[in-house]
Amino acid sequence: MFPQGVPMDDELPLSADERRHAERVRAAIRAEIAAAGGWLGFERFMELALYAPGLGYYSAGTHKLGRGGDFTTAPEISRLFGACIARQCAQILEEAGGGILEVGAGSGRLAVDVLTRLESLERLPDRYCILDVSADLRERQRRLLQDCVPHLLPRLQWLDAPPETPFDGVILANEVLDALPVARFRWNGPGFDELGVGFADGDFVWSPRRAEPAMAQACGALAAAAGAWEHGYVSEYCPRLAPWTRSLVENLRRGAVLWFDYGLPRAQYYLPERQDGTLICHYRQRAHGDPFLHPGLQDISAWVDFTALAEACMAASCELAGFTTQAHFLAGLGIDGEMRFLAGPDEARFLRLASEAKRLLMPGEMGERFKAMAWTRGVDPGLSGFALRDFRHTL
Ligand SMILES: C[S@@+](CC[C@H](N)C(=O)[O-])C[C@H]1O[C@@H](n2cnc3c(N)ncnc32)[C@H](O)[C@@H]1O
Repeated sequence: MFPQGVPMDDELPLSADERRHAERVRAAIRAEIAAAGGWLGFERFMELALYAPGLGYYSAGTHKLGRGGDFTTAPEISRLFGACIARQCAQILEEAGGGILEVGAGSGRLAVDVLTRLESLERLPDRYCILDVSADLRERQRRLLQDCVPHLLPRLQWLDAPPETPFDGVILANEVLDALPVARFRWNGPGFDELGVGFADGDFVWSPRRAEPAMAQACGALAAAAGAWEHGYVSEYCPRLAPWTRSLVENLRRGAVLWFDYGLPRAQYYLPERQDGTLICHYRQRAHGDPFLHPGLQDISAWVDFTALAEACMAASCELAGFTTQAHFLAGLGIDGEMRFLAGPDEARFLRLASEAKRLLMPGEMGERFKAMAWTRGVDPGLSGFALRDFRHTL
């Protein structure tokens, strides 16, 4: 996730419709806070703000991603991203056979680019399934795929839940983990507070209370990995990461899971100097840190703790096949050759692709902050995306 513009420094005016929508979302969350006795865990707040049916950011038809949306992502920046992922999928499908399951497909851009490149490589999967919680994004995906690859529609299928029977192939998720609701905590010296949400003077407010034993134990384990935190240190973790991951991968029989997201191994994620956590909100191409602003109109996300993801995948009996930066992953898959392939003889197009590649690769843009991680089950294809550098020792 990447803001397209500048950080939030001034308030942007809302249209009358937007104001009404934000008020409806605010009222629904406020009612749940009241029903719960005046306090709601942040994880539940984030779930409502993003996914409450008909209200949440991902459930209520705002523009969200891509040009003119709230933020942009690698597939929205360049087709090179999907072309490289297609090459990685081709290697896996060669050994595992089967299809592709994309989780959280956004606008459908990545699906179009992966399918298009796999077609030219003559490695089209039998099926390309999409699992996405957002009904309006599913509709947007269907329209884009219909426009761009109408002849491939018979291979496409939208799922309402992870497959319940064994399947072979690739599971693919770009920037979905960062959208899973997180719990927020604060180190208070001898113990931990859970930072929840209350309502006062017409707005949401942070409201601390002593962490339940399970949360205190989880936070204690994070602290042990990180070094000394100062009193008042605030951060997040994602309690639903492990069960969600397990439900997704448990029926993968032969194949691989490819995760792409921004985040860090645990020891770096919870460094003492990162004392305000990693929550990041996007509204009209501006990035800021206030999750209570314009509920339902803005995205809320948190960085991914890749050590937690590794633990979750290991607990689901997958084998780690690689962990690297987005830059190394794309370079390992020959992004330069993909530029030549996509541009053909068109030099102006080549130059455009070169400038897109810069955004995907440069350390100050997406190249380092975003990571790629692969897990396999029942296959050992040797993944080119992780051949240049593998940072698994940092997990
Ligand atoms: C930040 S967007 C990324 C979209 C796309 N992958 C891209 O890179 O442009 C997050 C996507 O994940 C979907 N999503 C969020 N939580 C999900 C979940 N639990 N299961 C499936 N999809 C989910 C959202 O609806 C949205 O399509």
